[in-house]
Parts: sequence; C-alpha cells; structure tokens
Amino acid sequence: MTELVLPNDANPLGNILGGKVMHLMDIAGALAAARHSRRVCVTASVDSIDFLHPIRVGEAIQVVAQVTDAGRTSMEVQVDVYSENLRTGQRRHTATAFFTFVALDERGQPTPVPAVIAETPEERRRQAEARRRRQARLARVGRLVEEQAEPAQGPGRTADVPARRPASGPVGDGEAAGGGDRP
Ligand SMILES: CC(C)(COP(=O)(O)OP(=O)(O)OC[C@H]1O[C@@H](n2cnc3c(N)ncnc32)[C@H](O)[C@@H]1OP(=O)(O)O)[C@@H](O)C(=O)NCCC(=O)NCCS
Repeated sequence: MTELVLPNDANPLGNILGGKVMHLMDIAGALAAARHSRRVCVTASVDSIDFLHPIRVGEAIQVVAQVTDAGRTSMEVQVDVYSENLRTGQRRHTATAFFTFVALDERGQPTPVPAVIAETPEERRRQAEARRRRQARLARVGRLVEEQAEPAQGPGRTADVPARRPASGPVGDGEAAGGGDRP
C-alpha cells in the first residue's frame, strides 16, 4: 500500500503524523488478515511501534503487511513501513509492528482461520518468532493459561479449517495471494 504524504497528514515540521502512520498500518494489516482468512477481521492487539525516521511531506509512504502465523481465530501480521524519496529513490525502513487480528463470522463472533503453512526457512523463522510473541502477548493480557494445552498443529488450533501457505512475499501494492501483498 503506497500513498503520497500530503500536508494534511503532517505536523508543523512537515513530517507525517504518527497517528496517520498507525492508521495505514492497521488498514494494511487488516487487508493481509482478511486475505488469509477471507473474513472480516478486527484488530485485537498491537505490539509496540517505534518510529525510526520521520517521513516528509512529498515523500511516499509504503506499508507492507504479511501474516506470520495463525492461532485458532487470530492471526499475527507483521507490518513494515518504508519511506521513499521520490526524487532520489532513497528508501528507508521507518517502522515495524506486530498486529493481532481476529476473524469474525456473520454474527460478529470469532471464527476459525486457516493455519499458516511455513515452508521456507524464512517462513519457519517468522512463524517460530510469531509463536514466541504470542506467548508473551497472551501472558500480558492474562490469557496464557489457555495456551498451556497447545495442540501440535499450532497455537489454540483445531483442524476445522484447511491450512494455507502464507503470502509468497510481503504485502504492499498489487494483488496478493493468501494474506500478503507485494510491494
Ligand atoms: C478481539 C475480540 C473479538 C476477541 O473477543 P473474545 O471474546 O476475547 O474472543 P475469544 O476469547 O474467542 O478470543 C478470540 C481470539 O482473540 C485472541 N485475543 C483476544 N484478546 C487478545 C489480545 N488482547 N491480544 C491478542 N490476542 C487476543 C485470543 O487469543 C483468540 O485467539 P485464538 O483463537 O487464535 O486463540 C474482542 O475483544 C473485540 O471485539 N475487541 C474489539 C475489536 C475492535 O473493535 N478493534 C478495533 C479497535 S476498537
């Protein structure tokens, strides 16, 4: 997802507002989650976000999202933000955050999502890290007890929805397959 940073999105210094960046991250993450689950997804949690560099008015902001792992009804989505100087082409990584989205059914209740099939070493690394973050996240909100009896297929998972490969690449612009967009 790429947008031109306009003056209305900026603070008096001409840098994009953090809230605008978070909004775009939420949208890109929700798209990746919806593409993985083919459900309406709501944001359940966002891990911390650090803004590493300002993005200036007149630069492009690119938001890239990818499903890293799925629980029973929730998915972790990694969202990365980049700035691009449109004159020089310089591209900088400016933020990363891990979002948790929950898929809802027609009645607005959490509903099972496909497991993530991690095949490449990179996908397996991302998935293992996602599972460690999930443990920490659920401990923080007092839900870890439910995780202790984790079945072999993955966190909180039952085999009621077919598993799915994650996106073959990160989510940016253009068409996506299985929870990701390409830049
Ligand atoms: C997210 C929400 C649907 C979860 O409802 P719930 O009654 O706790 O549902 P469940 O207990 O069945 O949990 C559903 C999943 O959410 C996960 N979850 C719930 N709260 C969470 C949190 N704070 N952080 C991470 N995961 C969370 C659970 O671990 C579970 O995942 P799993 O099925 O993969 O194991 C509900 O809290 C909600 O609607 N929140 C508001 C969402 C919203 O409107 N967001 C936009 C901003 S306000």
